[in-house]
Amino acid sequence: MTNIDNLKTKYASAISAANGLTELDAVRVAALGKKGEVSLQMRTLGQMSTDKKKVMGPALNALKNDLAALVEARKSVLEGAALNAALASEMLDMSLPVKTDTGTLHPVMQVMEEMAVIFADQGFAVAEGPDIEDDFHNFTALNFPPGHPARDMHDTFFLKPNENGDKMVLRTHTSPVQIRTMMSQEPPIRIIVPGRTYRCDSDQTHTPMFHQIEGLVIDKTTHMGHLKGCLMDFMSAFFETDVEVRFRPHHFPFTEPSAEMDVRYARVGDEIRIGSYNGKMGDKWMEILGCGMVHPNVLKNCGLDPDEYQGFAFGMGVDRLAMLKYGMPDLRDMFAGDGRWLEHYGFSPLLQANLATGLS
Ligand code: PHE
Repeated sequence: MTNIDNLKTKYASAISAANGLTELDAVRVAALGKKGEVSLQMRTLGQMSTDKKKVMGPALNALKNDLAALVEARKSVLEGAALNAALASEMLDMSLPVKTDTGTLHPVMQVMEEMAVIFADQGFAVAEGPDIEDDFHNFTALNFPPGHPARDMHDTFFLKPNENGDKMVLRTHTSPVQIRTMMSQEPPIRIIVPGRTYRCDSDQTHTPMFHQIEGLVIDKTTHMGHLKGCLMDFMSAFFETDVEVRFRPHHFPFTEPSAEMDVRYARVGDEIRIGSYNGKMGDKWMEILGCGMVHPNVLKNCGLDPDEYQGFAFGMGVDRLAMLKYGMPDLRDMFAGDGRWLEHYGFSPLLQANLATGLS
């Protein structure tokens, strides 16, 4: 038995003296590994007399278990110490001032911030939805009947059909989030939806991926006058000048009546000036967004009673509004990832848009 006691003392002190995980593992192998001292002792059991085996068997087993437990305990102490050391050496002081000599906010982010600030002031909350949509949310629930030509207008990107033959799509507009919100939230609803949208199209004013911001208001009393007021106020706040708007009748499957809204602008040389500039209102009209009263079928598709609930929706292109406000000539440059362009058109990440000190 003294042999066992000796082994125990020897390895117990080696384990507690081990100062790192590699060192600890070397001790474990020396004691409990295949050719370790304890394992070799256990192999001698076969040659022992039955009586001796009865005593030595359990004793050696206990030794093995005790040492294994000590190794485990030491291991967790060492791991804890390693973690604490890493935490201490890798700590970042988040209260240090940010280095701002490099990096700018992309104009799309800036403009989305500006829009969110203006609509927040009008009581809108931000909602989001997935970029990859099903046919139901992108089309059917929005009152596009199956096979309706309006589906083709959108130049949709389809994904490979799944096992049921259903094709998911890259959402062609942010309107599916109208459906998701009405199906998951009780009215009153007052949301904006900024996000990425996709259509198979590319030229100076179109990119396959672009950004939209959607608006949706649902309650029992909101009417077209509210829609007009909301968008008129938005345009003047966004362009930071007086902006005259007009509404023209239009068609969308998911609104009735539907309208397109134009803003007055002037062309000064190569530049486009929205609204009033130097005290003079522009003399031309430019189409800027689509809108309308939410179609009764859409309300029904979302489980809302159109005799009880009503409201408006609108959708506009964020990138295009950014181009108009900040004078970028080609939409495709926005997503080319050219550092020089970003340096020129980018915004300071520290100057947050707000209505009190100015949007931009
Ligand atoms: N979803 C429409 C589009 O992408 C815009 C729109 C939204 C029109 C909401 C009316 C109401 O063209």
